[in-house]
Amino acid sequence: MSFPKGFYWGGAVAANQCEGAWNEGGKGPSSFDYTTAGSVKKARATTLIDKDGNRKDAFVLMTGIPQGCQFYDDPNEYYPNRTGIDFYHRYKEDIALFAEMGFKMFRLSICWPRIYPNSFDEKPNQEGLDFYRSVFEECKKYGIEPLVTMSHFDDPADIDVEHGTWENRQIIDMFEKYARTILTEYKGLVKYWLTFNEINIPLFAATGMFNGMFSQEDINAFARHAYKMLHNKFVASAKAVIAAHEIDPEYKVGCMIAGGVNSYPYSCHPQDVIDNMITQQYAYYCPDVQVRGAYDAYAKRMWKQCGLEFDYPKEDDEIFKKGHVDFYSFSYYNTSVVTNRPDAAERVGGNMTAGIKNPYIEYSDWGWGMDPSGLRYALNEIYNRYGVPVMVVENGLGAYDKVEEDGSIHDDYRIEYLRKHIAAMNDAINDGVDLIAYTTWGCIDLISAGTGEMSKRYGFIYVDRDDVGNGTLDRSRKDSFFWYKKVIESNGEDLD
Ligand code: BG6
Repeated sequence: MSFPKGFYWGGAVAANQCEGAWNEGGKGPSSFDYTTAGSVKKARATTLIDKDGNRKDAFVLMTGIPQGCQFYDDPNEYYPNRTGIDFYHRYKEDIALFAEMGFKMFRLSICWPRIYPNSFDEKPNQEGLDFYRSVFEECKKYGIEPLVTMSHFDDPADIDVEHGTWENRQIIDMFEKYARTILTEYKGLVKYWLTFNEINIPLFAATGMFNGMFSQEDINAFARHAYKMLHNKFVASAKAVIAAHEIDPEYKVGCMIAGGVNSYPYSCHPQDVIDNMITQQYAYYCPDVQVRGAYDAYAKRMWKQCGLEFDYPKEDDEIFKKGHVDFYSFSYYNTSVVTNRPDAAERVGGNMTAGIKNPYIEYSDWGWGMDPSGLRYALNEIYNRYGVPVMVVENGLGAYDKVEEDGSIHDDYRIEYLRKHIAAMNDAINDGVDLIAYTTWGCIDLISAGTGEMSKRYGFIYVDRDDVGNGTLDRSRKDSFFWYKKVIESNGEDLD
């Protein structure tokens, strides 16, 4: 085995899915505070009303907020992110457990509305700043390097409901102010940063994920909105990178992309190969700007395809060049199969998964195709295209766990999934990929982003909480906890 010395083994969480304390410590609201739970069959809904008081619910993470809508607090709904797993009050216990496993890195996010409850606020919220300082100090105590995401799906709500969403260029300045605040505040405590989690998610609509769910007209509207928003996020990300390097030359900042390059053509039919090439261009769309510092040629075709006449200030090109990231990070769960030929086989039908069923791999209970070799493939494709260090910052199996009478949890299926993915990363390293970190997703059970369920568990640490908010929130170690400890101790050599 060949994981390099100093390889960052660890785990990852996000503020909105674990902190809870949604209205404590001076925090402002975000859309997840108004998003209900769903399931593999039922989409989550952000509860909204339009200006005439009519309900206009939509899962705004995927579709964005309909114009003129406000968040609506429905007393008959359960909002799981509001309490999360109470990391806000229990982070010391949780970090001690991560340290017991030997974590070298802990990926977490700062909740922007904890720092600026409204994006346009002039001064940051001291309680929010203090909270993350204690969290980072706790990590340092155990020699754990924090990897900090600046924005993981929970932007201040006013951006969407008052300021015209990320389509408004003023939000770039608000984000830069926020980034400069935290980069200055945590100098010496943090070294690695990510700007936007899974920045490419708004593009999912354009890639066909919503085919059959929305009209083509709606899909084109989502895509036009996505390209305009993303452009501003690219500028904001580049400005944050520039700020980071100014504030501390030791800072390293990465992009964070959902899925890497994780699709295959359905067959060697030339049309399938072309369709897959186009799907992969969607996967490259964001990192091309964030890592290479420029839009690639195909971007114009994409804009045109959804009817977008897109022009932007020329100075942005310079900002992209100067503010390119230092490393590439991505989440990896599954692969998909692409064809647009109508006679092709069965579709997957899971949550947040599009495309055709791959007969050569197995699927999780949520319809996510498990494919360790796809990780080796993605790592090679990414590294060969961009040539910068790579981190896998999310990977894992969302599964139902059973607590035995004696309290033990035998999650051998999770161990099996992770073992194969670690072996695939090892192969990629032998292929020559400069892989420097692996932080498994949901190292402690937390609220699922896609479905809002608690029962879709990823953790090495079990949290006693169910899908409707019952449970003590007590933590306990699963079998995978002891297994991952051995993996880390042996620097990836002992996978048994
Ligand atoms: C990624 C997100 O999409 O996948 C996480 O960055 C999310 O926030 C993870 O939790 C797994 O998805 P899910 O829907 O199973 O929670």
